[in-house]
Amino acid sequence: MNDGKSTGKVLLIGAGPGDPGLLTINAAKAIGAADVIVYDYLVNPEVLAHSRRGAELIYAGKRAGEHSMTQDEINDLLITRAQLGQLVARLKGGDPFVFGRGGEEAEALVEAGIEWQVIPGVSSGVAAAAYAGIPLTHRGYSSSVAFITGHGARGGRDQSVDWQIAAHSADTLVIFMCAGTIASIARELVESGRRPSTPVAIIRWGTYQHQEVHIGTLDDLIGIDEAGVPTVEPPAIAIVGEVVELSKKLNWFGSNPVALRSLSPVGIVTPSDFVQGESYVASCE
Ligand SMILES: C[S@@+](CC[C@H](N)C(=O)[O-])C[C@H]1O[C@@H](n2cnc3c(N)ncnc32)[C@H](O)[C@@H]1O
Repeated sequence: MNDGKSTGKVLLIGAGPGDPGLLTINAAKAIGAADVIVYDYLVNPEVLAHSRRGAELIYAGKRAGEHSMTQDEINDLLITRAQLGQLVARLKGGDPFVFGRGGEEAEALVEAGIEWQVIPGVSSGVAAAAYAGIPLTHRGYSSSVAFITGHGARGGRDQSVDWQIAAHSADTLVIFMCAGTIASIARELVESGRRPSTPVAIIRWGTYQHQEVHIGTLDDLIGIDEAGVPTVEPPAIAIVGEVVELSKKLNWFGSNPVALRSLSPVGIVTPSDFVQGESYVASCE
């Protein structure tokens, strides 16, 4: 949609967690108006059906083991296309400003003098919990919730999270990007004073029909860790806190929860060649 001005605009859009019905009306309209759509791995391809005929679709990754654009390349692409006068939809999974690098892209746009806007999305931190029957707050169980990255754990890519502080930052902890680190995070939380019997849910592919839910305790995760590092393939999010207990009563979506305790050390595995959108059979033992 070139409006004749010398510069276009970039819309940073949250595509939601997976269920295409969770795309907002504003997001659907923006996708439908865009000249070019730059989308990430965690965007459900079904939401691209809102794009108009002739719109250019550019996949920007990122998935482990495949070539994907660097953040600088993505920033340059957004800026260049807007400078050509295009309306650019930058689609990200969940919400762009929740562990989505939306802030970094917005800063780059501001520095380049590009007009931009953000369209919030439904974050997986909220939606995956809801589809697993877990209210993040509840008067009887939890009066606070914290969103935390799992990258800051032992074995993670950085050390930005102080788990001694994070462990007590809220009643309910929602830990993003915890594949590969959740067992060591469980240990850090217990060492920092959370009870070993604290309930934990690990939700994979939350809100998709093939959503998987694993329920147990911090102690179960530590046990799995001691038996050998568990493999948890992304996308996985962990919910830690008493609210997880409610999933037994509020499991409306119908995922069949698997006990963490019953998993072998490599029990939480997705076939490495799994392609998003294709049918999928859970491989939990
Ligand atoms: C780079 S972050 C993006 C978060 C996103 N901006 C949001 O608000 O949901 C990627 C992480 O989000 C979580 N995630 C995203 N979609 C998910 C889903 N459908 N089910 C479970 N976790 C998900 C996982 O922890 C994944 O590793």
